[in-house]
Amino acid sequence: MAAREPIGRSTQNPFTPGFGLTPVILAGREIAIEEFTAALRGEVPEARSILISGARGAGKTVLLAEFRELALEAGWTDLRLHTSSTSLAEELRRQAVSALRELDPEAETSQLTSARIASVAAERDIRRRYDGEGEDLTTVLDRLARLADEDGAGLLITLDELQSANRDQLHALTQHVQDLIGSGHAVAFLAAGIRPGVDALLDHERTTFLRRAHRIEVGSVDVGTAAEAIRLTVADTAKSITPEAAVLAGEISCGYPYLIQLIGSKAWQNSGDADVIEVEDVRGARPATIAAMIKNVHGPALRGLSPRKREYLHAMLEDEGPSAVGDIARRMGIDPRNQSTYRERLIEEELIRPAGRGFVQYALPYLAEALRHQESEGADIEPDRGLTRSRRARRR
Ligand SMILES: Nc1ncnc2c1ncn2[C@@H]1O[C@H](COP(=O)(O)OP(=O)(O)OP(=O)(O)O)[C@@H](O)[C@H]1O
Ligand SMILES: [Mg+2]
Repeated sequence: MAAREPIGRSTQNPFTPGFGLTPVILAGREIAIEEFTAALRGEVPEARSILISGARGAGKTVLLAEFRELALEAGWTDLRLHTSSTSLAEELRRQAVSALRELDPEAETSQLTSARIASVAAERDIRRRYDGEGEDLTTVLDRLARLADEDGAGLLITLDELQSANRDQLHALTQHVQDLIGSGHAVAFLAAGIRPGVDALLDHERTTFLRRAHRIEVGSVDVGTAAEAIRLTVADTAKSITPEAAVLAGEISCGYPYLIQLIGSKAWQNSGDADVIEVEDVRGARPATIAAMIKNVHGPALRGLSPRKREYLHAMLEDEGPSAVGDIARRMGIDPRNQSTYRERLIEEELIRPAGRGFVQYALPYLAEALRHQESEGADIEPDRGLTRSRRARRR
C-alpha cells in the first residue's frame, strides 16, 4: 500500500464572513448551548420553545443551525420551515410526510416487499398513505411525533427569518406545535428573526405562544472572547497569529459576530504567504472590514429609515460618547418631549440604546462611520464603473 502523505494543516482562509455560515469557533454561545442540551434531555422541557432575536449579522441563523445539529446528534427528527414558502402549513405537511417516509418502519417493510414482488399497487398504496391526502395535518404530525419520540428523542421544528412570517400562518403553525406539546409529545420549536419585525409580531394577540417562548438575544460578545475566538480559528491552520494581532483584531471586531469573521478573514488575506498574521495585517484590514459592515449590515438597516429618524441619528454624530437626549432635541430643533417618540422607535429598531438616564448611544459598531459615509457619498455605495473583459471571452 502506498504511504499516505501526512495531512498538512490547512492553508485555506478559515473565517466565514458570510450570512448563515457557521464559524469554526462559536464565540460566546456556551450557556445557550448548555441550556438547549439540557432542554433536549428533558430537564427543562419548557425551554424547548425558543425565540432567538438580534440585529443583522449577530449570529441568529448560526445559533439556530447549531441547535439543530445538537438535536440531530441526540436523534431528533427535524422539520425546517422557510418563511418564504407560500404556505407554512403546506410546507409543514410536505416535510412531515417525507420525514414519516423515512421513519415509519411499516413503510420500509412494505417498500421492501413491493420492491421484491415489484407490486406497483403496493407502492402506490404507500405513496397514497403518506401523501397525507385525506389525513389532516394534525394526524400526520401526531403520528410523526409519536415515532420521533422514541428513545428519548423528539421532533424539532425550526423557522428562520421570523420577521417575514405571515401572522395568520404563524398562528396556525404555533397552534400545531402547542397541540403536539399538549398531547405529551417531545417537541422543540426554534424561531429566529430581527428584533423590529419580531417585536411587531409579538404585539399581536395571536402570538401568545411565541411571547412565552424562551428568549435568547444574540449580540456582541466581549472583546477578549472575540480575540480568543480569532486566535483559536487560526490555531487549527497552517498559520498562526501573534497575541498582539489577535487582541487588535478582537478590538476592531468590537465583539460583534459578523465583524469577528470579517476582520479575521481580511487579516488572513493581508498576511499573504507569511506563516504568521501580524499586527500590521490586522491594522491594514480595518478599512475593508468597516466598509463591509456598512454595506451589508448598516446599509440595509438605514435604507428604509424615515427622514426624522435619520436626522436623529445624525444629530448624535457630534458627540464622542453617548449623547444627551436634550442636546439631540435642540440640534433637531424640536421640543425635548417630542424626541422620545423617535428615541423609542430607534431603540426598537436596534439602532440606538439607552446609555444611562437621559442619554443614548449607537447600538451597533461603526454606525457612526456608516452615517458619515452616507453623508459624504450620498445614500448608496459608489457604483463600480470599471469594465473588465470576462475570462470566458478571453478564452475564445
Ligand atoms: N457565535 C459566533 N461567533 C463567531 N462568529 C459568528 C458567531 N455567530 C455568527 N457568526 C458569524 O457572523 C456572521 C453572521 O451570522 P448569521 O448569519 O448567523 O447572522 P444572522 O443574525 O442570522 O444575520 P441576519 O439577520 O442577516 O440573518 C457570519 O459570518 C457568521 O459566521
Ligand atoms: Mg440569519
